Order: sequence, then structure tokens, then C-alpha cells
Amino acid sequence: MTKFVHAGGPERIVDAAGPAIKPGASVLDLATGTGKVALVAAAKVGEKGRVLGIDISDEFLKLAKKTADEAGMGDRVEFLQRDVGALDMPVEYGRRWADAVTCGSAIAMFAEPGKLLDTLARDVMKPGGVFVADMWAMHLPAKIFLDVAVPRGFEAPFDALWMADTETAFQRLFEGTQFNLVKLEKMGESMARWEAGSEEKMEALWKNLAEDQTWLSFGLERLDAGRVEEIKRAWVKEIEACRNDEGVVVKEMKQWIAVAVVKE
Ligand SMILES: C[S@@+](CC[C@H](N)C(=O)[O-])C[C@H]1O[C@@H](n2cnc3c(N)ncnc32)[C@H](O)[C@@H]1O
Repeated sequence: MTKFVHAGGPERIVDAAGPAIKPGASVLDLATGTGKVALVAAAKVGEKGRVLGIDISDEFLKLAKKTADEAGMGDRVEFLQRDVGALDMPVEYGRRWADAVTCGSAIAMFAEPGKLLDTLARDVMKPGGVFVADMWAMHLPAKIFLDVAVPRGFEAPFDALWMADTETAFQRLFEGTQFNLVKLEKMGESMARWEAGSEEKMEALWKNLAEDQTWLSFGLERLDAGRVEEIKRAWVKEIEACRNDEGVVVKEMKQWIAVAVVKE
């Protein structure tokens, strides 16, 4: 089985910010996770720039810090545990300090993204600052998952529009905010060929799906084991039916990137 990777995703996010992320710039990376986007930004802002990565998970932040130190960039990147819903910044950052804010594969998970954008525009970003967010549009195995799981009681932990129509979800996100959406494009693609067939292979595919799509595992944790098993059986049956002539299931994802600028 090919291991699935969002190849080049973080680089494309940072590139999409254009000159807002240049040597000496200040960048905030929201929901930084293991710091992939933050570290690409850190390389670009150079020794005189600074990057702050925030995430709700201490565990991810420890890994991010370790990677930054190993890459010799620990002095220009800081990682802090924060919920984006309560975005209080340390005083040393002052007000409206960020040239750019990035958010990799996470915007759909936030409870009140509109409120977050207000806070960013009012307190965190410089006038004319650039906000870049991406989401990977849903691929076939995840779509099939929703088809079989929702009627069996699965609740997606965020608005299904992000999965069904990522483009419209991004357009709506910025409506009525202090941001002008200046670019919204499908920029990356990721493809994996899944071998289906034996019970062992299907077990591995199921595990792979739940690991790739953290929102699926969050939702599954709320169901009892019997219900999860029922969903899994239904999913395996549908996936088997999607095998092509070569006996594989093609798993395809597309990266949507939105670039928005704070109104002056
Ligand atoms: C799919 S990961 C993306 C990580 C990283 N941005 C990347 O592109 O590799 C989603 C991240 O969002 C974080 N997250 C989810 N809700 C959050 C919240 N309310 N506040 C801060 N971080 C949050 C999770 O802990 C996780 O690290």
C-alpha cells in the first residue's frame, strides 16, 4: 500500500502568502500541529524574522519544538499551547504584529471561525496582513465513509460543507469579515493507490483512513464499539465495490488554498 502524504502542502501555503512571508517578517501559524507550516515559514523569514506556532495539543507542540531545534531554527520559532477560540497573545508580541497568518488543514475544525477572523484582524494582524488557509477536499474513501457512517449515528465534528464543497465553504468563511478573499485555488493534488481484497489489507486501509482523517477518529471515539464495527463492515463492503480493473482503489485529494487580506 502506498503511504499517503500531503506532498508539498506546507510549501504551497507559505508560497501563497507571497511577500508577506519574506526575510524579517513575523508569522503566526494557527493549529501548527507538528509545526510543518511553521518551519517552512521560519526558513523563509530568516534569522531576523519570527514565527509563533500555536496548537491545542501539547504533544504535537513538543514534536514541533524538537524539529525546530534540530533544524537550527529554535531561536526564531516559538510554540505555545493555545485554543484558537481564546486567542490571547503574550504581551511581548504587542498588538497587530503579524505580517501573515497561516492555517494548515485545520480551519474546518474550529468552532467559531468568524470570531477568530475578527480577532485576527482587530488584534493580531497588521493592516494589509495576509491570511492563508488550506483544506484538502475529500477523497473517495472518506466520502464513502460519511455515506455509511452518518445513517448509523456518526456525527462529523465540523460542518459537512467543508467536506462536500470546500470552495463554497471558503467563500462563506470570509463573507462579512474584515478580510478580502483575493485568491481561492485548487493547488495541490495527492493520489494513492490502495490495494483492496484480503481481510488483512482491508484492516490496514481502515486504519489508514482513521489515521489520515483525524476528524473521523474524533467522531468514532464517541460511538460504542459495536456501532464502530458495523460502520467499518459497511465501509469495507462499499470500498471493495469501488475497486478498478487493476484491483485497486484510487484515493485522491485536492488541496484548496485561500488567500485573504485584512482590509486597511
Ligand atoms: C490536521 S492537523 C494540521 C496540523 C498542521 N497545521 C499541518 O498542516 O500539518 C489539525 C491541527 O489542529 C489542531 N487544533 C484543532 N482544534 C484546535 C483549536 N481549537 N485550537 C488550536 N489547535 C487546534 C489539532 O491539535 C491539530 O494539530
